[in-house]
Amino acid sequence: MDGSAAPPTGPLPAYRALIASGALTADDSQRAAAEHLQDLFAKLRGYNPPPRPNGGNVISRLLRLRPAEGAPDARPNGLYVVGEVGRGKSMLMDLFFQQADVARKRRFHFHEFMQGVHARIHAWKQANPDGTDPIQPLADTIAADAALLCFDEFQVNDIADAMILARLFAALFDRGVVVVATSNTRPDQLFAGRPGRDAFLPFIALLKQKLDVLQVEGDRDYRRQRLHDLATWYVPPDAAADRALDRAFATLSGGAQAAPRRLLVMGRPFDVPLAAGPGARFDFAALCARALGAGDYLALATHFEALVLDAVPRLSPDNFDEARRFIVLIDALYEHRVKLVASAEAPPDALYRSGDGAQAFERTASRLLEMQSREYLELPHLT
Ligand SMILES: Nc1ncnc2c1ncn2[C@@H]1O[C@H](COP(=O)(O)OP(=O)(O)OP(=O)(O)O)[C@@H](O)[C@H]1O
Ligand SMILES: [Mg+2]
Repeated sequence: MDGSAAPPTGPLPAYRALIASGALTADDSQRAAAEHLQDLFAKLRGYNPPPRPNGGNVISRLLRLRPAEGAPDARPNGLYVVGEVGRGKSMLMDLFFQQADVARKRRFHFHEFMQGVHARIHAWKQANPDGTDPIQPLADTIAADAALLCFDEFQVNDIADAMILARLFAALFDRGVVVVATSNTRPDQLFAGRPGRDAFLPFIALLKQKLDVLQVEGDRDYRRQRLHDLATWYVPPDAAADRALDRAFATLSGGAQAAPRRLLVMGRPFDVPLAAGPGARFDFAALCARALGAGDYLALATHFEALVLDAVPRLSPDNFDEARRFIVLIDALYEHRVKLVASAEAPPDALYRSGDGAQAFERTASRLLEMQSREYLELPHLT
């Protein structure tokens, strides 16, 4: 022993470090959750169930049903992290995901994942009009991509999703995929009161069998607390505003690591230059001076709770394309209660005074003002 052991890794030490640095406030309920996540982290070190590439004939698929060695029952259970809004569930899952020592790991917003699932099933049915079942090959593809799947905001609102989930998840668990999810809804309450619920019950039973349910039930909504005293509109966009936006971005992301992130919009990639936890950061030009549309802005607004937007310029009649996109962007943000922190050349109502769509811009300016209010900042994000 030379006393120079590597520093401990995993979500629990990472959580403790954020508390020690002052980025997070200590919270018993979160610590207990971080301990569970740490256990799973330890069990998953180097986890690498045999990848099952897409395709393969019936025989090889039959052979794959049971792994030759390693009892399937010895596989670690995943986790279902549940609690009220703003308790730190996504923050904890993201710490776990960043730290997880698993070569094939993916994190999805659950809604985005399901959109991808429907798109692939649709494509499969077009390519296989004979009616072959798409679920097994789909599970092959997903499992080849990820032995660890993290889902943020797991929820089931849609009968089309409900019908697919039981078979798809059973197929994924068969392939050794470990699932970690955050949700506001306990498994027993999923799809409650909806027509077709009975057919959905086996899925709930499967979730409870394969995932340990973990409650994060602190009494504080940290999101609300964070946003309280946040200034949101900085004029002009100078170096001081840059620094203020840096700080706002760090605050909003709760110390999560910032990195580029790729979203899928209707199966098409949409690159976010900088994302950290629930926050995204863009230059105005990158968001409104490119050929982006309502679908992209909607994806942003549902994925992120907060947007930090650098350098909104004054717009002249020649900039009506930018103005039009900015209108669509702000509508999407406003409708989904996304919190906006921006630096700009002018206050909202002086940004675009004349030109095509200047009248529609009045609504945008008014929304931008409302979005700076404490009342708006306290509203929950709508996904
Ligand atoms: N212990 C803490 N101290 C300070 N800030 C925190 C703490 N825990 C979480 N936060 C911050 O509070 C905000 C909300 O946390 P998070 O998004 O993880 O909540 P959530 O439980 O996933 O909420 P929702 O159910 O709405 O998705 C984030 O900005 C996060 O960084
Ligand atoms: Mg969350």
